[in-house]
Amino acid sequence: ELAASRHSVVFGAGNPHAKLVFVGEAPGAEEDRQGLPFVGMAGQLLTKMIESIGLKREEVFIANVLKCRPPGNRTPKPQEIENCSPYLTEQLALIKPKIICALGAFAAQTLLKTTTSISALRGRIHDREGTPVICTFHPAYLLRSPGEKKKAWEDLKRLRSILNQNA
Ligand code: URA
Repeated sequence: ELAASRHSVVFGAGNPHAKLVFVGEAPGAEEDRQGLPFVGMAGQLLTKMIESIGLKREEVFIANVLKCRPPGNRTPKPQEIENCSPYLTEQLALIKPKIICALGAFAAQTLLKTTTSISALRGRIHDREGTPVICTFHPAYLLRSPGEKKKAWEDLKRLRSILNQNA
């Protein structure tokens, strides 16, 4: 359905052998223009989040649940998730990361097949078919609610400690 209104397919970008994969919701306007994930304002904050744990953007892989921009950035529909999910599943199967970081409720709920809120999902480690998953706030939400950045930093520190285990 989204193919009719999108400009580019935003498949994902980064290191195909990444130990860490970030998963967001769906491309926004700038991502749709450039064909790359997280290149707008939220993307700039995501880059800072990645660098805060001692990594470079090129070292990780960044993808979204939806590969095409929903018109007007509306919330993805269940049918769209169903259509796009096999791509994300295959990306994760090929990359085999040591850990996945879900950005925001939408990615977290899709990856973990749950309806639990992001506030309840963050703060602990989840399992997705044997791969640990850390859930944190979406950078676009952090831009709107900077008071929550402290919690996101706690999530990132937990992420870093798992990543550094037997590294
Ligand atoms: N928000 C997302 O969830 N993904 C992007 O790629 C950009 C903004």
